[in-house]
Amino acid sequence: MSTVTEPQFSEARLVEIKALSKRYPHQKSALMPVLYMAQEDFGYLSMEVQQMVADTLSLKIMEVREVVTFYTMFREQPCGKYLLEVCTNASCMMNGAYALLDHMTASLGIKAGETTADGMFTIAEVECAGACAGAPVVQVNNMYHENVTANDMDALLTKVRAGEVI
Ligand code: FES
Repeated sequence: MSTVTEPQFSEARLVEIKALSKRYPHQKSALMPVLYMAQEDFGYLSMEVQQMVADTLSLKIMEVREVVTFYTMFREQPCGKYLLEVCTNASCMMNGAYALLDHMTASLGIKAGETTADGMFTIAEVECAGACAGAPVVQVNNMYHENVTANDMDALLTKVRAGEVI
């Protein structure tokens, strides 16, 4: 008989969430930071984790789903150790984002939205990262890289593969 364990926030996280919720007139307003916490703790927001967040904040699951499915920074699937988020919005598009994205997908052998077989890299195409002056922009695990060229990306991937922290 297999036992399925429901995800649970740690006691320390629950204390943190309780304190956070007190900052707002309605604890629904704490939803986004709590989703970030859940994503950090569990790696991605499975339906079980989303239900846990809903229960923790006394929300309906649909209220959580509305937020999770709207914002690209919330992930519903596991991703690689390094998440490569390529902005393809207007400024980045006009500065070569699609050529860069094509280069990355070709060199890693995956499409946007996929993860390499070794679990190292996930490529995601995202909306404006809010750093248009540095277009094209790629975030690597939330670290911004601006004015990125194909050569820059090759060098960065080489560093990561060599175990250098980026
Ligand atoms: S359009 Fe890419 S950062 Fe704004």
